[in-house]
Amino acid sequence: MSTSQKLSVQALQWSGHSLKVLDQRLLPETIAYDEYHDAAGVTEAIASMRVRGAPAIGIAAAYAVVLSAMQHYPSGDWQNAVASDIQQLAASRPTAVNLFWALDKMRGLLAENPAEPIAALNQLAEQIHAEDIAANHAMGERGADVIGAAKAVLTHCNAGALATGGYGTALGVIRSLHQRGQLQNVYADETRPWLQGARLTVWELAQDGIPATLLADSAAAWLMKSGKVDWIIVGADRIAANGDVANKIGTYSLAVLAKQHGVKMMVAAPSSTFDFSMENGDSIEIEQRNPQELLADCYLEEGSLVNAWNPVFDVTPAALISAIVTERGVVIDPGLHGVRSLAPC
Ligand code: MRU
Repeated sequence: MSTSQKLSVQALQWSGHSLKVLDQRLLPETIAYDEYHDAAGVTEAIASMRVRGAPAIGIAAAYAVVLSAMQHYPSGDWQNAVASDIQQLAASRPTAVNLFWALDKMRGLLAENPAEPIAALNQLAEQIHAEDIAANHAMGERGADVIGAAKAVLTHCNAGALATGGYGTALGVIRSLHQRGQLQNVYADETRPWLQGARLTVWELAQDGIPATLLADSAAAWLMKSGKVDWIIVGADRIAANGDVANKIGTYSLAVLAKQHGVKMMVAAPSSTFDFSMENGDSIEIEQRNPQELLADCYLEEGSLVNAWNPVFDVTPAALISAIVTERGVVIDPGLHGVRSLAPC
């Protein structure tokens, strides 16, 4: 594959009639798109993590609602059929609020009874996609302004182009820092158990020619102790009204370690990640995935009593975060100042 082909890889491709989803379970060995013509297929693609990352699953769900309308309109009860597809999509994964945010927007438009529903839904889904890319570029610049010069940063999971409409949230900030010549190295946690860091983040960084160093999640404390990183930069799946942040499991440990070692912690996320209906992070539902994702590496006899605990997100208290960056603005020390200033007017 040539470099230009590699750079054009996107998580989602919308043709106007179908949604192509890059199967991220196969990366980096295989680049393969599955093409979907109905919402049920996209629901399965989200649940099985062919597409993953909070903004990307919101965008995929928005296009799935268009596909649902294309399938059912103008049959007599098409609105009920679309509503049922929306319900299925909402049940695909519980933690990333961007999914519910996008579905609410699509549902709200349907409630207005547009004269040409397919065209109207299509326009809104494309707008959600385009605005996400623009937000990532804006966040990239804002985040890079806050950091200034950094010799090295650490990131966790994959909050890159693959997890979004394009460019990325945490990786957007990293891309902007790199373009400014202000970054020497990016440390990437491998991110057990799904290896988003090892399989996706390092792959994205390599394609952009950004120097990267992979480490086991358990090496992060020692990395910080060695003074090798100035900032940790991560994305988010849901941010509560008090600034508590749900993100990939392991983010909370990084924040605790960062406090101990005087390393700063930045969360970069579009406004669609905020859930002001949740007072704090305690109410955020944390997805538990199949224990087999962990047990697959164990040798267990038939009837063994060994199980596995596999929460795939955790919540970092606002007090441990140095900065939250969105396309609307930045809050420094959200634990002190709150995040209300980032709410829509
Ligand atoms: O389980 P995943 O891979 O969907 O989890 C993704 C993350 O936790 C990301 O950090 C988050 O969605 C932000 S992506 C811009």
